[in-house]
Amino acid sequence: MTDERPKYQRLVDHLRSLIADLPVGAAVPSERALADDSGVSRMTARKALAALEREGLLRREVGRGTFVSRPAVSLPLMLTSFTEDMRARGLEPSSRLLGRSALAADAELAVVFDVAVGEPLVRIDRLRLADGTPFAIERTTLLDRAVPGILDVDLVAASLYDVLEREHGIHFDAGRQSIRAAIARPDDATTLELAPGDAVLELVRTSIAGGTVIEHTVSTYPGARFELSASIAPVTAAGTSRSALRAR
Ligand code: GLP
Repeated sequence: MTDERPKYQRLVDHLRSLIADLPVGAAVPSERALADDSGVSRMTARKALAALEREGLLRREVGRGTFVSRPAVSLPLMLTSFTEDMRARGLEPSSRLLGRSALAADAELAVVFDVAVGEPLVRIDRLRLADGTPFAIERTTLLDRAVPGILDVDLVAASLYDVLEREHGIHFDAGRQSIRAAIARPDDATTLELAPGDAVLELVRTSIAGGTVIEHTVSTYPGARFELSASIAPVTAAGTSRSALRAR
């Protein structure tokens, strides 16, 4: 079977698998070497390197070369959306719908949303991509009565947070987020183009508006492609003394 992918895409895919096998800091072939080896123009090689650099998988150092890097997904201590996060990094966000349904809160979700068991909720699962590359799977549960009709909205084209704000007047003013490591579920591994058994990072976010929990999302990111970073403040700035922390 002939490979129908355009040369550019083939080169990007090839570089992506090369990078996945290399440690951070390892050098990757130069623009010229890539062009010669892959039979593409220097321009195509440059474009492919630039795309992976924008994703944070490569870092170019003037006069030294191009090196493997890990993208830093900044730990959203702010209630930013995937769309905003990606645009801030110069990447074009998109989504693919994996599933959506209405459901009733079970005991666990009733605690999360602080509602009675049986409360109507909705579930929307999306694959989130950046510049066409799978970045995360997001499984979002929403409080139905706060977002009537949301299951009919096209959340492939639109940002969920934009829709919540525009159509439901929801502005999140509080939230909680936790991060945990896990092994990719077999179907997630396929969707995220991972090998079976690869590690993932799960970000679990609960977003609150006016005291009501509206959203609970589990975002699954490929562990090896991401790094989480966050600003940290001196303990005293948060009104906590070191001795108080030690006493805990
Ligand atoms: C981030 C959050 C999710 C949230 C999503 C909304 O990824 N971790 O909890 O649901 O953004 O993204 P968007 O508005 O782009 O659909």
